[in-house]
Amino acid sequence: MTGTLTNKQLDIDFVRQCFPTFAEPLAAKTAFFENAGGSYVAGPVLEKLMHFYRMNKVQPYGACEIQKLAGNQMDAGRQTMADLLGVDSKNITLGASTTQNFNTLAYACEKILNSKSELIVTAQDHEANIGAWERLCLRTGATLRIWPINPATGELELDTFKSLLTSATAIVCMTHSSNIVGSVNPVSDVISMARPNGTRVIIDGVSFAPHQWPDISTLAPDAYCFSTYKTYATHLGVMYTSTEFAESLDPQCHYFNVEYSQKRLDGAGPDHAAIAALDGLGDYFTQSHDHHFGESDATLYEKTKNTSALMHRHENKLCVQLLAGIDDLPLNILGRNTIEGREANVAMTSSKHSSATLSKALAKENIAAGHGHFYALRLLQAAGIKDTDDGVLRISFGHYNNTEDVDRVLSVLRAIH
Ligand SMILES: Cc1ncc(COP(=O)(O)O)c(C=O)c1O
Repeated sequence: MTGTLTNKQLDIDFVRQCFPTFAEPLAAKTAFFENAGGSYVAGPVLEKLMHFYRMNKVQPYGACEIQKLAGNQMDAGRQTMADLLGVDSKNITLGASTTQNFNTLAYACEKILNSKSELIVTAQDHEANIGAWERLCLRTGATLRIWPINPATGELELDTFKSLLTSATAIVCMTHSSNIVGSVNPVSDVISMARPNGTRVIIDGVSFAPHQWPDISTLAPDAYCFSTYKTYATHLGVMYTSTEFAESLDPQCHYFNVEYSQKRLDGAGPDHAAIAALDGLGDYFTQSHDHHFGESDATLYEKTKNTSALMHRHENKLCVQLLAGIDDLPLNILGRNTIEGREANVAMTSSKHSSATLSKALAKENIAAGHGHFYALRLLQAAGIKDTDDGVLRISFGHYNNTEDVDRVLSVLRAIH
């Protein structure tokens, strides 16, 4: 039996001890709020990575013991990722990044489109989940429809989606939560509305997954992508595709690999060691679960769900501290100024200073929080932000941040306003 969440708090000292980076002087003095750009790496992941590079950096799956061990470790990494998500490993493609996975998926989708087809992408997405589909439309003659944001809130509204969905809509591509706006989008409602129409739903979970581990098996999308270098692991893109969807697409692998479902959409095999190291992410979630809830025979999927909920609650508490602390400052949050329905990833502009000035002032105090459009250029344009290079200041939390980190951000932002 896995533990109950009631009244449990994340043991932040335990968490920080699990990340070797915090033992380094530079990281120890840095308050790190660039997590949406990439997280620190959990100790067990680093151990598996180092182990592979030291012991088994060879052509895997060969006849020699050293090669067999390399293959076994890669299989373990892939299986752990499937177990963490509660899905079959044959439904997982591991790519170099999510950008690459979307591009490969878009090529694979050519087979299910014609010049009468329509695709919906959102104005809230990262360019990775727009450009690949726009180029696909140019190649096939299909029509690209943009699901616009409400410019006042930055949010996507279901009524607008309803008005775009037609009998010709072949694919909807949308983000689970934007890397700028932070609101959690109603992806489940979109799937329910799209499925009877025969429309495929492809979800970008890159910005969502670091804050809440995605429950892909419950959501049951056609495809779901996220990047493990933002979920405390190595630099890979994970792409789930349902069997039925994957089999309807053009394989993008070498012709002799078509029968291996996990290779069908693998455009270029990524770093072997990075795959093997994913096994360490399972270790991290297990250790964290057992520390907080006690050992149990629950599945890795159940343990991860409960552990992720604790991490999420911790991040939300910190985000509330930030939102309350800046409430009276001349800062304009792009998205909600309350925690309900949003992730701890907050983008803002100031009416007194450029975003670059805010970021520099924070950096001077060893606080990492960048500025710009973060590859969501079209979103910033739609929200009416004129200087998109200056863009927004983004404060993106990880579950290893603590209240002192937030205090430091607040003291800088308050001092300069
Ligand atoms: C929301 C979102 N989608 C997609 C991507 C692209 O992911 P990757 O860097 O793995 O290509 C990013 C990267 O920052 C992102 O934030």
